[in-house]
Amino acid sequence: MEKCLLLGNGGREAVLAEYISKGYELYTVCPYENPTIIEYVKKSNGKYIVNDPFNKDIVRNFIIDNKIDACVISSDNLLQDGLIDVARELGLKTFGPTTKGAKIEWSKTYALDIVKKLAPEMIIKNYNVKNEEELKKVIDIYEDDEFVVKPEGLTGGKGVKVGGIHFKGKNEGFEYAKSCLKTSGNVIIQDKIEGREFTVMALTDGENIVVTPTTFDYPYRFDEDKGPGTGGMGCLSFENGLLPFLEQSDIDECSKLIVNTLKYINKDSLEFNGVIYGGFFKTKNGIKFIEFNSRFGDPEALNVLNSLKTPFTEVMENIFNKTLNTDNCKFKNTYTFTVYVVTKEYAVENRKEPLVFWMNKEKIQEQGVKVYFANTKNLEGDTYSSVSNSRLFGLTTSANTLEEAKEKVYNSMKENLDEKLDYRKDIGNIYEH
Ligand code: GLY
Repeated sequence: MEKCLLLGNGGREAVLAEYISKGYELYTVCPYENPTIIEYVKKSNGKYIVNDPFNKDIVRNFIIDNKIDACVISSDNLLQDGLIDVARELGLKTFGPTTKGAKIEWSKTYALDIVKKLAPEMIIKNYNVKNEEELKKVIDIYEDDEFVVKPEGLTGGKGVKVGGIHFKGKNEGFEYAKSCLKTSGNVIIQDKIEGREFTVMALTDGENIVVTPTTFDYPYRFDEDKGPGTGGMGCLSFENGLLPFLEQSDIDECSKLIVNTLKYINKDSLEFNGVIYGGFFKTKNGIKFIEFNSRFGDPEALNVLNSLKTPFTEVMENIFNKTLNTDNCKFKNTYTFTVYVVTKEYAVENRKEPLVFWMNKEKIQEQGVKVYFANTKNLEGDTYSSVSNSRLFGLTTSANTLEEAKEKVYNSMKENLDEKLDYRKDIGNIYEH
């Protein structure tokens, strides 16, 4: 069996570990022992070391010493830092963009410049501001806080702030934008528009794309979409691969932009394969572009990989061989449903001490719900500890109806989770805003 290196340690990598290990021996360099990833490393007779996955010398030596054949990376920071480039230099088959390819995610201005060229009608009016004076002038254009502040670099889904939601009044928006200017030397101020947000995620071999079922993410911390933005508190997908407010023609329009963007990025050499993921708004005036990500979304990956009909390892092979198409990458007609479990402080304040908690994984799994650990390590038995202030674990299932999927996940949580833990109780509601 060939050997595959997976880098990254979130819930997204936990589900990737499950599906990669069905056809490869799984290897990883990890900063801590994520229980799901380690389970699949062991089951597949692979190997792991606890070390820094950002350290290129350590990763390079691990690849050489273990004669690894392939590499999958879907974490924004690792992609920006060029870990795919390291694997490529050593001749591995790779799934994920190089630093250059991942620029569509780590530079908002680069992504906007591409879309301005390829689909100007999708651009929302915006200003790329480079100093405080310019910032004052731009913010003065707005009567109130009807603008959005977008930092330039990676922010783990927590950087974009919308006037009236994340900040109130021009002054607060100005102060936030000023802090972004300090960090990266520029900041984007964009008109706030009315519309429904959606994402289009596609697997790609660099040229061909296969669009995955469309997912509905819950990027706010509390019920009814209240509170700060987070990496995603839950996610669902429908059996027809669409969302109630979307039509196939909307997806087709976004797919066209995605295909043309790939053509643009890969025009001289293959810099991008794996997953490309676009955020869009459906408005009265057509579809508008928000941003690109150069990887699987998290939690989106938990839903999408669980709805694949084709084995993921076959999809990987077709990506490596540049033979991906809709006949060799098929999805089930099923509803998928994920809830992320977090600490009560998550996204609101930083815990100083790790949270030690219990959960009964076996009892949850007995009810047809999968557990994907993220920023958690196992202490012993049913006792676990958080390893950072991020999400702890995701619970995912599939079913024939949304109601059934929702009940399965929420019922599995009853009596099986420590009361110290927290999660949104309203995943499944499709909000109108
Ligand atoms: N769920 C949003 C993201 O992965 O960026």
